[in-house]
Amino acid sequence: MSLLSRHRILETNATLLLIFSFIVVTIGGLVQIVPLFYIENTIEKVEGMRPYSPLELAGRNIYIREGCYVCHSQMIRPMRDEVERYGHYSLAAESMYDHPFQWGSKRTGPDLARIGGRYSDEWHVQHMRDPRDLVPESIMPAYPWLEERPLDYRHIADDMRALRAVGVPYSDEMIASAVADLRAQVDPDADWEGLLSRYPKAQTRNFDGRPEITELDALIAYLQMLGTLVDFSTFQVDEAR
Ligand code: HEC
Repeated sequence: MSLLSRHRILETNATLLLIFSFIVVTIGGLVQIVPLFYIENTIEKVEGMRPYSPLELAGRNIYIREGCYVCHSQMIRPMRDEVERYGHYSLAAESMYDHPFQWGSKRTGPDLARIGGRYSDEWHVQHMRDPRDLVPESIMPAYPWLEERPLDYRHIADDMRALRAVGVPYSDEMIASAVADLRAQVDPDADWEGLLSRYPKAQTRNFDGRPEITELDALIAYLQMLGTLVDFSTFQVDEAR
């Protein structure tokens, strides 16, 4: 009997066909699923990445509240024009602590993944007050209330606990000192030793130049750290993989 005519037996017997289809699908499924249990992590760890400091996190919350992601992406694609304009392409690890991530789906304005350090704090203050003061053709809305509104950070430790529940490695110590760390980061006279040991490279200063802690302080602290944690002068892509 030829192979083809034996196949006829399968095709004319519904139960047999069902059983054999099931076997085939099971093998295919196992081949796809089993390896996933043996991969340690799908995100390559990168030196320098750390969770957001409490002030940066508060700024990120404002970024999300104001819908900045509607016009701005935070994901530099590995294409020449993007890399030349924005800097090194984004690594998966750079958004590993982002819940939700801010990759975005639309760029009405430029990508912000590496905006940190590109402009002065004063530039950001002015730009948020009225983007057209600095970029006359800008269509970005003004956010003048951010510098008027005191930052509400009563729940910042709860935010950190919630993030810990989804895998961000905030320690008990980080959560216990959340409010103190937040205040210290905007206080030019504070003792930053604890803050910097918990959040290396955290930038410490009065971001908006106003005496009180405002929403703008937090937002600028967030913008100024974006893309600054990984040192790309020493970062090596693992070519062997
Ligand atoms: C309606 C779309 C829109 C929204 C919403 C928006 N922006 Fe923009 N943004 C733009 C455009 C367009 C530009 C480029 C012109 C300019 O610099 O103003 C820009 C520029 C910027 C820049 C300068 C980027 C660079 O590389 O020069 C920053 C920083 C920025 N936006 C931050 C924000 C933040 C923070 C928010 C939320 C509070 C926000 N934007 C909301 C459209 C938007």
